[in-house]
Amino acid sequence: GAELAAAWTLPQVHARQVVGSTNDMARTLADSGAPHGTVVVAEEQTAGRGRGGKQWESPPGLGIWMSVVARPAELPAPGLLPILVGLAAAEALDAFARPATAMIKWPNDLQLAGRKFAGILCEGSWDAAGPGAVIVGIGMNVLHAPGDFAPEVRETATSLRIVAGWAPPRVHVAGAVAGAIARALARPPAQLGGALLDALRRRDALDGREVRVTGPQETEGTALGIASGGGLLVRGRDGVLRTITTGTVRAVPH
Ligand code: BTN
Repeated sequence: GAELAAAWTLPQVHARQVVGSTNDMARTLADSGAPHGTVVVAEEQTAGRGRGGKQWESPPGLGIWMSVVARPAELPAPGLLPILVGLAAAEALDAFARPATAMIKWPNDLQLAGRKFAGILCEGSWDAAGPGAVIVGIGMNVLHAPGDFAPEVRETATSLRIVAGWAPPRVHVAGAVAGAIARALARPPAQLGGALLDALRRRDALDGREVRVTGPQETEGTALGIASGGGLLVRGRDGVLRTITTGTVRAVPH
């Protein structure tokens, strides 16, 4: 039936040498009806952006700067999206990262060997009537050597190549990750539970760590996993268990 047909339909892939931001191009395509799973990938971005309006370095030749148009059957809570995307991407990336395991640093970073190598930026409007399109942007450091990183991030960033010791073909990595994201968001759960929570727990880079949360829910305490709504559970120094839904989290060094 329709399911089988969808499985055999190749996604639209828009590969470009240079764009401003693949998220912007994907939004334009989505607004003119691009289907679920449509991929935009660029060799270079001139206006790549990260969370909080930060600039995202997107030089040519080294990474995967990619966006996926997602039209979930039902729109999950905004906090759930990056988690679902992160888990799907991490699972797909393991095949290339071995012996390392891709870990999720709440809410939207992927880490290898304790360092950031990918970031996720989901953009969409949640107040729209009915499920609209969500743009899932992901930037992955793939072929970077240590010297390729800007001095500010040299101590905290890494790449697949540095960790796994080989240079995986970016087209394979991109295809695996885009496919996994489209699959995860076709029919996303309303809440995290069961097998999904177990899988997340095994990849939770912050689990049990002492953390400092900045932003509107500023607090310090111990990270105790991910809640069913996608928030981060933190037991504060005052003993109170809080669910953090927004902000930046830093692990306090041991
Ligand atoms: C973050 O860690 O702050 C998220 C970074 C997201 C970067 C990706 S690269 C592809 C897509 N296009 C953008 O402009 N940003 C995302």
